[in-house]
Amino acid sequence: MATIPRDFIELLVEKINIVDLIQTYLPLRKKSGSNYFACCPFHQEKSASFSVSEPKQFYYCFGCGAHGNAIDFVMQHHHLTFPEAIEMLAKLAGMSVPDQDPTLVKKEKRSSELSSLLAEVAAYYHATLTKSTKAMQYLRHRGITDTTQKQFLIGYAPPGWQQIVDRFGKTDADKQTLLEAGLIIKKEGGGYYDRFRDRIIFPIQNDRGKFIGFGGRIIDQGEPKYLNSPETPLFQKGHELYSLHVLRETAGTFDRLLLVEGYMDVIGLKENGIHYALATLGTATTPHHLKKLLRYTTHIVFCFDGDAAGRKAAERALSVILPLMQDHLQISFLFLPEGEDPDSLIRKEGKATFEARIAKASPLSHFFFQLIDETNHRNTMEERARYVAHARLALKPLPDGMLKDLLLDELSKRTRIDLATLKKDHITTTQQPAYKKTVLPFSKPMRLALTLLVQKPALAELVNTPLPTSSLPGWDFLTQLVKSIKQNISMTTGGLIESMRDHEASTLIAALAQETLVIPHHGFETEFSGALRQLLAKTQETVIQALLAKATQGELSEPEKQELATLITKKKS
Ligand code: GTP
Ligand code: MN
Repeated sequence: MATIPRDFIELLVEKINIVDLIQTYLPLRKKSGSNYFACCPFHQEKSASFSVSEPKQFYYCFGCGAHGNAIDFVMQHHHLTFPEAIEMLAKLAGMSVPDQDPTLVKKEKRSSELSSLLAEVAAYYHATLTKSTKAMQYLRHRGITDTTQKQFLIGYAPPGWQQIVDRFGKTDADKQTLLEAGLIIKKEGGGYYDRFRDRIIFPIQNDRGKFIGFGGRIIDQGEPKYLNSPETPLFQKGHELYSLHVLRETAGTFDRLLLVEGYMDVIGLKENGIHYALATLGTATTPHHLKKLLRYTTHIVFCFDGDAAGRKAAERALSVILPLMQDHLQISFLFLPEGEDPDSLIRKEGKATFEARIAKASPLSHFFFQLIDETNHRNTMEERARYVAHARLALKPLPDGMLKDLLLDELSKRTRIDLATLKKDHITTTQQPAYKKTVLPFSKPMRLALTLLVQKPALAELVNTPLPTSSLPGWDFLTQLVKSIKQNISMTTGGLIESMRDHEASTLIAALAQETLVIPHHGFETEFSGALRQLLAKTQETVIQALLAKATQGELSEPEKQELATLITKKKS
């Protein structure tokens, strides 16, 4: 999907009324002031903590923290990507997304051709399955029922080198498509042969249900055990998860999702009543995988074999999830007994026992310290110092927030090093700090001014621009907000969120939008002006102090002297 013009997106956000939109999904009850309430569609609850504000064009759940504008709502509700959400809302609003970059349109067309071909081939493999006694016997022997075979469209690639080439590659153009889709391989001396031969086939679909590749398992013994489609324009292993498209059919979020290693694990789990498992495709877990999963759940359970390789994989998964961590997420690590994988284990012990294991899986914090403990002692002072150094280094990618504070707290307890000392040299994160950490250092008037401005952007009209520069924490952000809003003074909170979606402060804006203000609506202007006045006065005061300090050193230039004089007069008046 090409980049959609910003103007169009903002127009769309203006045109869609969030109350009308959400109304079509849930019964909203008018309760207090301008807010509507309902039971939150994103988590299980009995009392209505999901609120929608018409003037703000913003929703927020007091229970689970879900929040955003109209685009976020459909993204969350239908698990859509941003461009998909735009497309859906545009349709609702009777608008068409402006024409996109022609090369990208062409690329998309090609992708959809490849995908249709893969779908046809998947159907062929699936139909071939029942004709092979050997393949059917194998599946039966592994306990895979007919229903599951149909559900996962499990197939069989017959033996022979030319089945696919002959059947689907009649013309040169067809052969080219087969090649691009990774279904056939070019021979050195010319000609082509099938990639998958005499294997059980697991079609792989992307989260939108499009066919993107295959995994093929050898029947019984042989090498390689699994053969997967190569990376193609359609299929990037580091982005895709087996069985993800099935989740798409369920609205709302999942209490938890289980990430396992193999196709057969997903299938074995499903066969035994666990329908929330997904698998990576023979690659290590990537941030792409996890970001995708986090569209569907706030609780990921990583499942690993109980051997050294599983342990290593878990360590890697931890390092991938750490930078993505947020306080509302729950991450657990489940280690299976040596020699077992989810498929073998659930067949042995059944759903209830397996789910009991999931319930007892190690939380991230636990696994984190377990790893540090494995390589570090803490008996001598030197060891404790090393322990701390190691732990702090490992914690570095974790964004600031409650979890980080708690882990540092635990580190302090374990090493008997005072928490303040541990926190002293600030552990900088590579991530945008979480909202609380960013807002707390702001002064009270700054907090108030920012909150009011985000919740009622029209207040920007009261600000005389350009604003002076200032070193006050939050000032640059305030200046930027004013500037953005002044470009379209009628924008709502939802619109503001949209205009700053990719901005580094977008989380902060969303957080400010959720703040509860005790000020009545008619008091917004007075409060805002008051806060702004205080901030301007403080700014002036810092400038005065700086100039005075310079003056005592006798280093004041002529224009600076004048500035100081003006400022002092201003202050007195
Ligand atoms: P079964 O033996 O059929 O139960 O499969 P499994 O899921 O137990 O297999 P295993 O744990 O060995 O592998 C897990 C995943 O790794 C598979 O689903 C494949 O995606 C991938 N994989 C395994 N073996 C190979 C291989 O030889 N080549 C490639 N490319 N991938 C493999
Ligand atoms: Mn297995």
